[in-house]
Amino acid sequence: MNLEKSKKLFTKAQKYIPGGVNSPVRAFRGTGITPPFITRANGSRVYDEDGNEYIDFVNSWGPMILGHNHPKIREALNKQLELGTSYGAPTGLEVEMARLITEIVPSVEMIRMVNSGTEATMSALRLARAYTKRGKIVKFAGNYHGHHVIENTTVANYNDIEGIKSIFRESGEQIAAVIIEPVAGNMGVVPAKQAFLDKLREITQKYGSLLIFDEVMTGFRVSLGGAQSLYNIKPELTCFGKIIGGGLPVGAYGGKREIMEMIAPLGPVYQAGTLSGNPLAMTAGLTALNILKQNPGIYYQLEQKAKRLQEGLGANINRIGSMMSVFFSDEPVFDYDSAKKCNTKMYAGYCKSMLEKGIYLPPSQFEAFFISYAHTDEDIDLFIRNCHG
Ligand SMILES: Cc1ncc(COP(=O)(O)O)c(C=O)c1O
Repeated sequence: MNLEKSKKLFTKAQKYIPGGVNSPVRAFRGTGITPPFITRANGSRVYDEDGNEYIDFVNSWGPMILGHNHPKIREALNKQLELGTSYGAPTGLEVEMARLITEIVPSVEMIRMVNSGTEATMSALRLARAYTKRGKIVKFAGNYHGHHVIENTTVANYNDIEGIKSIFRESGEQIAAVIIEPVAGNMGVVPAKQAFLDKLREITQKYGSLLIFDEVMTGFRVSLGGAQSLYNIKPELTCFGKIIGGGLPVGAYGGKREIMEMIAPLGPVYQAGTLSGNPLAMTAGLTALNILKQNPGIYYQLEQKAKRLQEGLGANINRIGSMMSVFFSDEPVFDYDSAKKCNTKMYAGYCKSMLEKGIYLPPSQFEAFFISYAHTDEDIDLFIRNCHG
């Protein structure tokens, strides 16, 4: 495979950008692959500087649930472009975005738009501390909530009911919040067990700690209402990102009115953003969410496509809806320790050989594959054939 132009760009990039990339996983480290530098994307495909075409199972790490360059999103963006790109003032687009999310996700009574998932979780944690007047946060090993440092944290084992009980027995009264990916996607895809999330809901309520669902990845992905609708659990706060931006930079956090009303200018928790609620991002996100809401069959079809891929690959796979992971391990993966047992070298080799065959996979065992509505059965079958061939 010819990656000459990408190689040259990567060398140049490393002079000016740490590691040559603006987000570490894009460097394809440890895979022996030069990251293809992408020039365009359409439907299920991405194209690189050297003219290589790939079937994309990264999908910008989740946002592109409808596939790349969706005509309706493009059209809406073109219209908005005529009207300007940022005002730093309130818009009707933001109101509609907030209304729509609160309609689809009932636990969210009020919502604040930010610019990334990192910002969403950081702000939600600050809010939780202010609301509860407590300092401690519980998070889970193998979960990712963005690159900010979460201080005063206890790290618990995912899917471990006894572990969480013991943490609350010891310091429950000091715990402001438990933050969790209800379906983890950052140690590979690892769904929480229903009984585990039920216990977490029960115990946080008992101790007056907030439950924060980080649905940056799962929101509008695993079902229209996200993981909380699949598991039928109402967290106090939820963080969003990815899909709600329709491919543009975005994040949001929302939840119970009484808690959200602590945010400035209503309350003492100061949180602001020059580009928050950006009209282009709102336009792309609203268009995507409206398409998803008005066509519930999309989720059924995503399930069928993803199931076809899972059955065709026939490996050690965890999957919830259209997010899945192929684990290079003989054992089930249900927490971070079991995820770490995977053979990451073998995964890297697999990723490399697939890329050479035109299948673009996440270059890390611990990232999810995303299936989009633009993937055809032929795309899926081509992946399966290449994998077995
Ligand atoms: C569950 C989860 N939370 C938070 C983030 C951070 O979002 P962002 O990369 O937009 O800052 C991510 C990013 O992948 C994520 O998967």
